[in-house]
Amino acid sequence: MCGIVGYIGHRDAYPIILNGLKRLEYRGYDSAGVALYDGTGIQMAKTKGKVADLEAKVNAEITPNGSLGIGHTRWATHGVPNDINSHPHYSNSGDLVIIHNGIIENYGSIKKELINRGYTFKSDTDTEVLVNLIEEIKKKEKVKLGKAVQIALNNVVGAYAIAVFDRNKPDEIVVAKLGSPLAIGIGENEFFVASDATPFIEFTNNAIYLEDEEMAIIRLKKGVKVRKIKDDSLVDPYIQELKLNIEQIEKGGYDHFMLKEIYEQPEVIKDTYRGRLLAKQGIIKMAGLEENMSKFVNANRIIIIACGTSWHAGLVAEYIFEEWARIPVEVEYASEFRYRNPIITDKDVVIAISQSGETADTLAAIKLAKQKGALVYGVCNVVGSTISRETHSGSYTHAGPEIGVASTKAFTTQITVLTMIALRLADVKGTMSKSDYMMHLRELEMIPDLVAAALKSEDKIKEIAKIFKDASNFLYLGRGYNFPVALEGALKLKEISYIHAEGYPAAEMKHGPIALIDEQMPVVVIAVNSNHYEKVVSNIEEIKARKGKIIAVVTEGDTVVKELADYVMEVPATPESLSPLVTTIPLQLLSYHIAVMLDKNVDQPRNLAKSVTVE
Ligand code: F6R
Repeated sequence: MCGIVGYIGHRDAYPIILNGLKRLEYRGYDSAGVALYDGTGIQMAKTKGKVADLEAKVNAEITPNGSLGIGHTRWATHGVPNDINSHPHYSNSGDLVIIHNGIIENYGSIKKELINRGYTFKSDTDTEVLVNLIEEIKKKEKVKLGKAVQIALNNVVGAYAIAVFDRNKPDEIVVAKLGSPLAIGIGENEFFVASDATPFIEFTNNAIYLEDEEMAIIRLKKGVKVRKIKDDSLVDPYIQELKLNIEQIEKGGYDHFMLKEIYEQPEVIKDTYRGRLLAKQGIIKMAGLEENMSKFVNANRIIIIACGTSWHAGLVAEYIFEEWARIPVEVEYASEFRYRNPIITDKDVVIAISQSGETADTLAAIKLAKQKGALVYGVCNVVGSTISRETHSGSYTHAGPEIGVASTKAFTTQITVLTMIALRLADVKGTMSKSDYMMHLRELEMIPDLVAAALKSEDKIKEIAKIFKDASNFLYLGRGYNFPVALEGALKLKEISYIHAEGYPAAEMKHGPIALIDEQMPVVVIAVNSNHYEKVVSNIEEIKARKGKIIAVVTEGDTVVKELADYVMEVPATPESLSPLVTTIPLQLLSYHIAVMLDKNVDQPRNLAKSVTVE
């Protein structure tokens, strides 16, 4: 969590840093700060609150100047969000200034040692300890900043992406990475540093993504030198050409990124299958899958590891992999998996799903699965992310940047990739009839149109949102393929509106949650035409008998549930196995509108951050 930005070059650093922080705010937004070298010394402003609060503070307190600077937007780990704990942090002498994304786990013992040597600390952060450790090494060992950073990092345990500079040497920034992402943008006589490439995309398309345990010394005149932190060896960095464009990271006329991303789904689902799905010819081709086909086909089990919304996509995949490809599937929370002693062998295939490709728990689970000999296949959105590099192979979702903290298009594009994998495996294994296979390919190709049709119900959904926005609890029920959609619907509502919501398999309701139902309880039931239709209708009857309010997601043309439910949200018909791609749409819109009506910060809900790079 936390976003970091830095600039060294010939332009004014402050507007670049400020704009960059706004783009990185999805990574954390409980405090923000900036430090600039103005030609004579360092100017710093930092505050609890959002980047907008920082902007106000800068306007009130300093005249931002200079072509060297660093900035930070924080998601607190050590120390509550307040002005003092905000980054950047000075070293005791005031010479060094640092920003940090990550956690230094052994900061307590280092702090004690530094206090014994006379250092004092203003904040409760691990970061202030790190900058003073660097200062102590620099003085004691009489080494340059880069060397001091390297020695310090060899003495810390934890995760970091850092940027640090020295006011006495204002022609360089030193950066380093382990566990948290760090990109260096290479311009003409100027360099950018950021947690991802969005802060510098309008200035350069060339970037170096540091690997774990690498550091770089960025010198205005001499360019970028990358070294291994452990043994100081020089690295020849790969300069990647970025495909990102500025429109992708702006709101494009929508009030929120979340709404823009909900509406992007028809297009990005197409992007996900473009070139991979040739429905007429009956072809699915995904390079990573083909290269590892025999591992997949002969797998004892597929184990899916993920967190949050990505875990819900994994649950949908469990249904389709087992049904179509007849391979046993287990879906695990990465955070639990990593601390068990799971039984995994080289006959297992592990699929790791992650939008950001940076989730710490998923990353740790991947490392464990690799140690145990399994093939690990990534389904990631962010190109070049740590998970995409740590996995043996994988498929990108191509959803484009997802900036709203609540995941929407990541979910549907993950399901699209997983659906293609399952269909291809079913075809290779011969576990699905050719006609069924061809039918599913055609239906999958039509999904973008069906999602676009489902989006047309927005006005009606807004009306429903108005009626239920003040409810304190919601239940979400679904069966089969739509049980994970119920979980996802509940998660969306919780995270952006702060209304308590629970997702349940519809039939489990009678084993407990039914006790919650009274006339105050809205129950969202996914009741599309499916194998379980009659059973879901019975569940609806049970809720009605207890005076619960039914909001049902139904297939267009439905009459039975329409008659029973208090409100309905219609979606076009699809084969049941593909229905999650469509039934999730009204649930996204419902949570969005409830949150907007409650005046919540939809794109940056409290306490959350887009990528969870801490345990
Ligand atoms: C919910 C949400 C989170 C993420 C989870 C995993 O809307 O965004 O639950 O799904 O933190 O993140 P990734 O997919 O980046 O690993």
